[in-house]
Amino acid sequence: MRNKIVAGNWKMNNTLEEGVSLASEIVNIVADELKDDVKMILCPPFIHLNSVSKIIGDADKIALGAQNCNDNLKGAFTGEISVDMLKSVGVGYVILGHSERREYFGESNAFLAKKVKTVLEAGLTPIFCCGETLEIREKDEHFSFVTKQLTESLFHLSAADFQKIVIAYEPIWAIGTGVTASKEQAQEMHKNLREHIAGKYGSDVADSISILYGGSCNPKNAKDLFAQKDIDGGLIGGAALKSRDFVDIGKSY
Ligand code: PGA
Repeated sequence: MRNKIVAGNWKMNNTLEEGVSLASEIVNIVADELKDDVKMILCPPFIHLNSVSKIIGDADKIALGAQNCNDNLKGAFTGEISVDMLKSVGVGYVILGHSERREYFGESNAFLAKKVKTVLEAGLTPIFCCGETLEIREKDEHFSFVTKQLTESLFHLSAADFQKIVIAYEPIWAIGTGVTASKEQAQEMHKNLREHIAGKYGSDVADSISILYGGSCNPKNAKDLFAQKDIDGGLIGGAALKSRDFVDIGKSY
């Protein structure tokens, strides 16, 4: 049985006060309404993490994630955040390789391989993002593009470490655009990713990995997407900023 996960990526939104009230609302609704077999992860900006961690407390259906970290453990890296700092405030997950970080901060597949290693060695779980642009899809190169992202950033791992990863397929043309991949398009890519993983690590490992879909996922389309055989939840941007919408997505299983 793969883990069902709905993670909310708040990106660079909300003041601390707004973030605290959003997290409190989510924690309260989740406690009453969410099924036991779904895990929700809140990924607020760094400065919110400590406060949101306290709001989550020991709630077992919600975990805390960060949106990024540095690949080094400590030292002279002005403005950066280390895995130990994240752990010290109760973070369990780290989003890595989001398309916005790839595009605006030049994060390459090789660089992400280093970050994945740092995060795993700290005992944290990477939520590794992959996904193609519209241009790549229109050239019909999306399968090879996305599988290459996995190969170059993750396939240096042992099978035991690979099994600790969560993958998020996020077609760039669907992120923040209101255009969602159809359930068929998403399922086809997730299946392809799982086959690619099986080719390297075997089908037992491939079958155990949670692969989330991200890109304009909302309470209306989540049910259809999550009903697909190879889709194990979502990485949610815009809709994660509204407590009701976010939890409704979590309830779409
Ligand atoms: P979106 O963002 O849900 O606003 O499209 C998803 C993401 O970037 O993770």
